[in-house]
Amino acid sequence: MLRIAVLVSGGGTNLQALIDACQAGTINGEIVLVVSNRKKAYGLERAQKAGIKNCVIKDQAKLLECLQAEKIDLVVLAGYLAIISDEMLAAYRNRIINIHPSLLPAFCGPGYYGLHVHEAAFKRGVKISGATVHFVSEVVDGGPIILQEAMDVSQANSPEEMQQMILEIEHRILPEAVRLFCSGCLQVEEERVKIQ
Ligand code: GRF
Repeated sequence: MLRIAVLVSGGGTNLQALIDACQAGTINGEIVLVVSNRKKAYGLERAQKAGIKNCVIKDQAKLLECLQAEKIDLVVLAGYLAIISDEMLAAYRNRIINIHPSLLPAFCGPGYYGLHVHEAAFKRGVKISGATVHFVSEVVDGGPIILQEAMDVSQANSPEEMQQMILEIEHRILPEAVRLFCSGCLQVEEERVKIQ
């Protein structure tokens, strides 16, 4: 069983989807740690309720120390709104997964997080959007893509509605990507991820 850490900054519905998938036994891994960079993140309470060790860490050097002390194999960013340090990227190369609420490479990069992504997509009038799970690299939202799913968002009446529609995809593809990783099915070749 792989040892998984999930990093959150907010509500943690993606964390919940991961907790549920682990409890259902579909993932060959265990969430042993949840870390937030914000004290008020509801994700911490979700972890508490599930009996998972949780804490608030703002400093990236301390975060890396903590992950290594806990012998973490896989780091999942589930609505984590902080930039990962170069040291952590080096220590966990192709072992950090992020979920982004658009079809990358659309609507990504600095400033495109959370609702901002959907505001930009809604303003532009996109008809198809979706979510992407990818490995984290030095380029913000630019690492190798693991899974993507698209949907028709033409009926959404607001960015908030679009966000709700796309969250459904996120809650499906994030646990699936973690399942694939924990089963040793993901192979990274340069910029591409092969699923075996
Ligand atoms: C999700 O839309 C995720 O893609 C984005 O932030 C949101 C977090 O939602 N990065 P939650 O905290 O998992 O509910």
